[in-house]
Amino acid sequence: MQTELRDAIAPQEIERRRNFAIISHPDAGKTTLTEKLLLYGGAIQQAGSVKARRAQRHATSDWMAMEQQRGISITSTVLQFEYQGFLLNLLDTPGHQDFSEDTYRTLAAADNAVMLIDAAKGLETQTRKLFEVCRLRSLPIFTFINKLDRPSMSPLELIDEIERELGLATYVINWPIGTGDQFRGVFDRRHQQIHLFQKTAAHGSKKATDTTISLGDPRIESLLEPELYYQLKEDIEILDGVGATFDLEAVHQGKMTPVFFGSAMNNFGVELFLESFLEYGLKPTPHESNKGLIAPTYPEFSGFVFKLQANMDPKHRDRIAFLRVCSGKFEKDMVVNHARTGKTIRLSHPQKLFAQERDTVEVAYAGDVVGLNNPGTFAIGDTVYIGEKLVYPNIPSFSPELFAYLKNADPTKYKNFNKGVTELQEEGAVQILHSTDESKRNPILAAVGQLQFEVVQFRLVNEYGVETYLETLPYSVARWVTGGWAVLEKVGRLFNTFVVKDRWERPVLLFKNQWNLDQIMGEHPELELSPIALPP
Ligand code: G4P
Repeated sequence: MQTELRDAIAPQEIERRRNFAIISHPDAGKTTLTEKLLLYGGAIQQAGSVKARRAQRHATSDWMAMEQQRGISITSTVLQFEYQGFLLNLLDTPGHQDFSEDTYRTLAAADNAVMLIDAAKGLETQTRKLFEVCRLRSLPIFTFINKLDRPSMSPLELIDEIERELGLATYVINWPIGTGDQFRGVFDRRHQQIHLFQKTAAHGSKKATDTTISLGDPRIESLLEPELYYQLKEDIEILDGVGATFDLEAVHQGKMTPVFFGSAMNNFGVELFLESFLEYGLKPTPHESNKGLIAPTYPEFSGFVFKLQANMDPKHRDRIAFLRVCSGKFEKDMVVNHARTGKTIRLSHPQKLFAQERDTVEVAYAGDVVGLNNPGTFAIGDTVYIGEKLVYPNIPSFSPELFAYLKNADPTKYKNFNKGVTELQEEGAVQILHSTDESKRNPILAAVGQLQFEVVQFRLVNEYGVETYLETLPYSVARWVTGGWAVLEKVGRLFNTFVVKDRWERPVLLFKNQWNLDQIMGEHPELELSPIALPP
């Protein structure tokens, strides 16, 4: 069996894979860009289908009813498509309505991130948050600045903001010529060519035709207004003169971001972006484990669970665990070891999810994501493997921003309440904190998105028969005390701070806002605080 597996590993399967997630603030154009990537990848014939689903989803106010009706979660998309012989896996990070810890966890399964920015708005909050998670993981970041066909900030200002505020070096690959009504195209610095912008009909539902001319072509003068032409020449001089030189290693280490400008709605700059991304993006990378780095070409199959999706329909209690394949070859119905429990499991009914359609996966390689049936077998961070035991590190919890006491409306349901809360916590649906005051027994739900609260309350009713209500707490920042209780005792009383404990009894401080946190840190430099926590 083992030799069979070894023989089956095809290095070209790894070479051609690129896996990425898009990080952006709502409305920057992620749905549009995703759709255009699928259009170019031939995965859809006409753009508009993803969009229609999004509109449908926003039109319904009852998210839960929607989940039930669909029978599968709308937040669980992993899109796989081919482009010029490459195989791309796009891990969808849900938008702001669904923003949850899953959004962060998805980045644990990504090899690259595409940072999508609205040219009129520059960096926005959600992008910054997600960027911080990418930075922690040193993910290569590719920046696509979108909506150049609309009035925009100046391109230099946008670049400067990324450099200054994110501390990320930039390398411009294509540069815009004019913006808004005057947007004429982009200059591709790699090939020293200008791609002329054409507005497309119907939001660019079909691929755009590309008109390209070289910088020295005499036709330029008739195609571009003189001021745009001179501006372009000046900009190129600045970029070539003071801009950094391209450093692929720095890109792969997440220290330099290649920058692209375009208009996703008009399909403009999308293909240019895709081509560079395939060339410079990281192919599936080795993963750290208790046995050292595990290469994607390591012959034995291994992977880890980064996200769980509960089906809200009580009639179909199936849940899905999303597994990132890290090495070897995944095959349908294979029997694997589950590192945490030591059990062996048959991976039957593996699924690939394309929008709401499910497809059975026969084989998968490093960089791919497989949806597994999960009748309570898997928890976030679980490793599965074949052969010699190995364990991938757990996925950290990130600072929650919403806090509320969860109260049981019916005291006779005490047992169910506790069981439900414990199980949902173990599954990673929400973080649970507790007051240090023994008289306050109610668990504190801690989440990064409102949706997590709704899911917990909904599932408590449906799966455990317990009605609950929330009492919101006025905090928005959590920090783990690195030195533990001893350090906290030494520091003494902290004003404007609520001291709680996590599920492993470790001290966590809750602050009303960043300002309060900064103040405490200023007053107590000896207090080491962390926005992330790993299970012990
Ligand atoms: P999101 O998933 O990041 O939230 O953003 P989405 O793609 O839904 O885009 C948000 C809005 O921005 C949409 O308009 C979309 O058409 C528009 N948009 C995306 N890319 C571009 C672009 O390159 N140029 C321009 N001008 N607009 C762009 P909407 O009014 O919300 O929806 P709709 O009228 O397109 O249906």
